[in-house]
Parts: sequence; C-alpha cells; structure tokens
Amino acid sequence: MFTADMHDLTPEDLERLPRHVAIIMDGNGRWARSLGKPRLFGHRNGVENVKSVVNAAFKIGVPYVTLYAFSTENQNRPGEEKSGLMRLLEEFLKRELKTMMGDGIRLRAIGDLSGLPGFARKAVEQTMEQTRANTDWNLTLALNYGSRQEVLEAVHSYARNEGADGAPDWNTFSSYLQTRDLPDPDLIIRTSGEFRLSNFLLLQAAYAEIFVSPLHWPEFGRDAFFDALKDYVRRERRFGKTGDQVAETSQNPVTAS
Ligand code: IPE
Ligand code: IPE
Ligand code: MG
Repeated sequence: MFTADMHDLTPEDLERLPRHVAIIMDGNGRWARSLGKPRLFGHRNGVENVKSVVNAAFKIGVPYVTLYAFSTENQNRPGEEKSGLMRLLEEFLKRELKTMMGDGIRLRAIGDLSGLPGFARKAVEQTMEQTRANTDWNLTLALNYGSRQEVLEAVHSYARNEGADGAPDWNTFSSYLQTRDLPDPDLIIRTSGEFRLSNFLLLQAAYAEIFVSPLHWPEFGRDAFFDALKDYVRRERRFGKTGDQVAETSQNPVTAS
C-alpha cells in the first residue's frame, strides 16, 4: 500500500499537478564517487530512490511517471557497468511486482528491448504482461531508449503501413511513437545539475516544463520531488498564447478552447 506522505502543497496546488512527470535520473556515478564507492553502488542506491519517488508521485496523484533508466548511448559504457545495471533492473522488477499489483500500477517500457540481455528483456516483458490490466497508475521505463532512434523507427513503420506518399498530421505520426499510450510529459526533471535532454523524449517534450536539480539522483528524495512539483504548479504554461489570454481562460475554464 502507499504510505502516508508529508508535503506542503495546498489543495489549489494539487489541482494543478502535472499529469505526466518524466525523470532523467542522472548522477549515480558522481554520487558514488563522492563517497569513494564504485559506480554500481550509486546505481544500487539510485534504484532504492526510484521506489520512494515513484511511490510519492502516485500517492500525491500524478498518474504517469516515466523514468530514463538506460539510453541508447549508455550502450557505450563498460560491459561490467551495463551488466550490473541490467541485474539491478531484473531485481527491481521481481521485487516490485507485488507492490505494482497491490497498488494498481501498470508497467510499460519504451526503447529497443531487443538490445537488452535476454534475462532483463524477459523480466521487463513478463512484468508488462502481468501488470497489463492495472489502470490506476502508469510507470514507464525508458530502456535502451533514444528519441532519434524512436523517431526513425516511427518513420519506417509509418511508411510501411501507410505508404510513403502524403505527410501525416501530428496525431497520426505520434501514434507511431513508442509513447503512443502516454500523454506528453508536463514536467521533465533532471538531477545532477545537467541542463540537457540527452536524447530523451525530444518531440514529446515540445511544451514540457523543465526542472533541473543540483542533487544527484540517489539523494533526490521525496522532499526534493515535492519541491519540483511546487515549482511546477507556480509556472504559467502559455502554449504560444499571451499571458492575458491564459489568465482569461483559467478564470473561465468552461469556455477554454
Ligand atoms: C544515471 O547516472 C544512471 C544512468 C545513466 C544509467 P550516471 O551513471 O549517468 O551517473 P554520472 O552522470 O556518471 O554521475
Ligand atoms: C542520461 O544520462 C541517460 C539516463 C539518465 C539513463 P547520461 O549520464 O547518459 O547523459 P549524458 O551522457 O551526461 O548526457
Ligand atoms: Mg550521467
């Protein structure tokens, strides 16, 4: 079951929560190194932090959480680090299945799963299958994911299915992206102080609010997550309109277009 949380978001803040938060979990290696430990120690603690932040997100009422866990480019890391990460992934999925079933969490994955070792791929596919009927909360792991690769794959399958003639509109094209079942991210959090997207959800991020925390991922706990939400709910999202137009529609939401 979800545990009770202490946060200081007001009822008005809670009405403005993001529907989809995507997190670039960065800094595990630097955090470990600052303690004189191996990088994998950082990844292990990073996984522990996943549980607490994801739990906090669902508990407060954010229905979609997407985590950047392994990028296409992370394939260039040392073999030992990659296999350590994959073992942690398998362990995490096996351990968390019970919680996912109890709390109504559906697991999805984006990325090229065929590039994962068989045991990790199997664990991901099994968990997706087992949690398929859960509808309350949506956890998506980006695994061997790269936005450019996702777009190229979408272009190829669009051409295969619909023929190469004619340009699709955005709704049609986005239905070929791996994120087709997810709303666009409203808030993208990156930890460890880096101001870049590193090939994550480049098109889906078109109007996402971006929050960069100086904390490394293993130390970016619930409180830091709630601070990011507090920052988000105070922002004005204009989607190309003027501030006056936005103020008018938010005062009179019934007539909002
Ligand atoms: C994020 O932490 C986890 C992954 C990319 C898998 P890093 O491993 O990138 O940590 P730093 O950036 O080297 O500190
Ligand atoms: C982005 O972090 C990928 C993940 C968090 C999985 P990286 O550590 O790989 O990003 P760069 O290389 O610093 O841009
Ligand atoms: Mg990094």
